[in-house]
Amino acid sequence: MKNNRIIIFDTTLRDGEQCPGASMNLREKLEVARQLARLKVDVIEAGFPVISDGDFASVQSIAKEIKGPIIAGLARCVPKDIDAAGEAIKPAGKRGRIHVFLATSKIHREFKLGKARDEIIRLAVEGVKRAKSYVDNVEFSPEDGSRTEPDFLVQVCKAAIAAGANTINVPDTVGWAIPQEYEALIARLYEEVPEFQSDKAVISVHCHNDLGLAVANSLAAVRAGARQIECTVNGIGERAGNAALEEIVMALKTRSDFYGGLQCGVNTREIVKSSRLVSRMSGLIVQRSKAIVGENAFAHASGIHQDGILKKRETYEIMDPQEVGWGKTDLPLTKHSGRAAVTARLKHLGFKMTETDVQAIFARFKEIGDKKKFVYDDDLTALVEGHITEMPETWSLDYLSVTSGTQTVPTATVRLKKSANKKASGEILQDAGIGDGPVDAALKAIDRLTRTRGRLMDYSLRAVSQGKDALGEVTLKVDFGNGGLVTGKGASTDVIEASARAYLNAVNRFLCDNPNPPDNEPQP
Ligand code: KIV
Ligand code: ZN
Repeated sequence: MKNNRIIIFDTTLRDGEQCPGASMNLREKLEVARQLARLKVDVIEAGFPVISDGDFASVQSIAKEIKGPIIAGLARCVPKDIDAAGEAIKPAGKRGRIHVFLATSKIHREFKLGKARDEIIRLAVEGVKRAKSYVDNVEFSPEDGSRTEPDFLVQVCKAAIAAGANTINVPDTVGWAIPQEYEALIARLYEEVPEFQSDKAVISVHCHNDLGLAVANSLAAVRAGARQIECTVNGIGERAGNAALEEIVMALKTRSDFYGGLQCGVNTREIVKSSRLVSRMSGLIVQRSKAIVGENAFAHASGIHQDGILKKRETYEIMDPQEVGWGKTDLPLTKHSGRAAVTARLKHLGFKMTETDVQAIFARFKEIGDKKKFVYDDDLTALVEGHITEMPETWSLDYLSVTSGTQTVPTATVRLKKSANKKASGEILQDAGIGDGPVDAALKAIDRLTRTRGRLMDYSLRAVSQGKDALGEVTLKVDFGNGGLVTGKGASTDVIEASARAYLNAVNRFLCDNPNPPDNEPQP
């Protein structure tokens, strides 16, 4: 049988980022990639370079900076995609991988591609060969593999391997598979393709969660010989998402009795940190009851359970929360803490910051320190991540005052500073807005001042740390009428200020991507 090592291929930055409203900018992607390297995944799929200049640049930067994991770039089976992927991953040298894909199922062949079986094989072979001219490490995915006729899938695998593919990934693209069926499909490939048995090529799986079976399918496949699992942190991804990395890794580890000692190289203590970072960078909130990384994953409410835990933890806990990175935080900082202490804590938390970054974080730390007694690691992390997600600020918040109450029309007065540029020296503008509530009033005032017109599509608020003076972090998604949703994030001890900061962050992102936005007349 095969070796026991499971390769963890993380596609948070590619399939994960394909999730509507989850798009990240270069700095955010780099921060996630650094964390994935600390998590010790084996492969980082950094993006789809041909899609846009931004995607190309982020794959290239990740390939340049990140040491350790293999860096993969995705490409369709067409020359311009493969060339873009080859160029983008070049800085990773021998750690570069090109991942080419082409649909093979009958429905995709007939309705999407209009191509016969032999044509598909020809294109797959050409694509793999072209990728091979850039790198040794080539992965091929027959898209919609789980719905492809098994005999044809075997032929495709053999042809792609003969052309040079080292890994064959069998995607359950639409989340159609059922564990026993998917296991049988992988078993058949393993039996009929000699290179899988001789370890010359690796079988990989890539499961989507449309029926909530992505993790179950991935785990079933490894029992049949798959040795690479494609997954994302928090399970984010197209539609219902991909298999969740943390669930796969902890299932293999916790139930190694069942999985016959299959091992992966992930540093499980970095799991919670990775989950939080991805959540903040993507703006996708993790549900409280999410396995491993949800707030409630290790919370025991019932008295019987609490009693059992106190007597012996294993009575109701199958994993040690500290093993996945939950647990005690170090002593909190206070407003008296100096720059050296803050810098040291940032370093300890794993952030790589320039002097200018530290300066900006320290200024925000002092503001927060004045308002709350203790600044916990989570507070500091929220400040750093808020800073990372900041855009070149066209507008910054200078002043905010709100009146609201049961008998008052909620009113907000907002003063914004406009950044200086070639055409204008920075100006300060002030206006007021009324709304259905204080947050609505503040956002309306911001719209009036910036002459944007955003529709709030999603809003969430969470307490970053403990206590009544906890920092509130707002994540929102705004529709500015440009065909996509823009994510904004902001944190403060005051939830209305956090909301205004988050909205302004979205406005700045929108203006950064759309330098000539429509000049909307201010609305009343
Ligand atoms: O779901 C899918 O089929 C994919 C491929 C590009 C691997 O994401
Ligand atoms: Zn996918």
